[in-house]
Amino acid sequence: MDAIAALSEAAPAKINLALHVVGRRTDGYHELETLAVFTQYGDRLTVEGGLRDHFSIHGPYADGLPTDHGNLVVRAREALRRICTGADMAPVSIRLEKNLPVASGIGGGSSDAAAVLRALARHWQLTDSQALAAVAPGLGADVPMCLAARPLLARGAGERIEPVSGLPKLAVVLVNPGVEVSTPQVFSALSSRENPPLQALPGKADFASLLGWLAASRNDLEAPALAIAPVIAESLSALGASGAAFARMSGSGATCFGLYESEHAAKAAAATIRRERPDWFVVATTTG
Ligand code: C5P
Repeated sequence: MDAIAALSEAAPAKINLALHVVGRRTDGYHELETLAVFTQYGDRLTVEGGLRDHFSIHGPYADGLPTDHGNLVVRAREALRRICTGADMAPVSIRLEKNLPVASGIGGGSSDAAAVLRALARHWQLTDSQALAAVAPGLGADVPMCLAARPLLARGAGERIEPVSGLPKLAVVLVNPGVEVSTPQVFSALSSRENPPLQALPGKADFASLLGWLAASRNDLEAPALAIAPVIAESLSALGASGAAFARMSGSGATCFGLYESEHAAKAAAATIRRERPDWFVVATTTG
């Protein structure tokens, strides 16, 4: 039999362009309303058959990450095995190229879990189209969003997803000042848990109308994250000084994003910030 080539699956970075915390639930989670987009830049997974299950991590942010059940990738693989009992789910070798900083508000671990679900569904030729959606929420609040990996509005704890079309392709710079921020800690530092919801999106948003909409929106997690990690303010200032038309923190931080008029402007801004802050994670990319 011919060897089957390894499957490759992108695990893009998630950006919460806006994130409103609109309520609190009894299970410890918060009710959110968020507009999320995904970037060309991200982690990458490859999956191929093996004699036994194997998982390895490589790349710039691999250091210190667990390769056992402490990693969402392994938990996603096992959750899929549990739910698809009828299918032949032979051992797999999974390789993760970790390009995104961890615990940084751009969904790295959640996007890896979602990517391994998509890759394994292809590798194992799973026919149950509902299996991935059934497994995703139990892996983490952001995993359903990352499974969709396209512009969307998410509500509930993040699992009620509505695809969004008509957003312009965005030129983005991602900046992380090298701090890990704990998501539960940020949520528990929120001063108000019942904030106004998102306004309706403009039907067909060009860059200018999207900027107008963003100006009237918020990331309610930005203030508590800034209180925990004041260096986030420096990232926002660096993005502003580099000519970003808009800058905000993503998710529970600490990664911030800047939006620019053109890819050329984003690349130039990233080069400037990198020169001034060679120890920071700084990437110019576009939304997919
Ligand atoms: O689901 P996940 O493990 O990614 O969530 C991490 C933590 O973030 C939760 O334990 C909770 O403290 C907080 N969270 C929340 N409301 C959400 C999503 C996450 O309070 N909608």
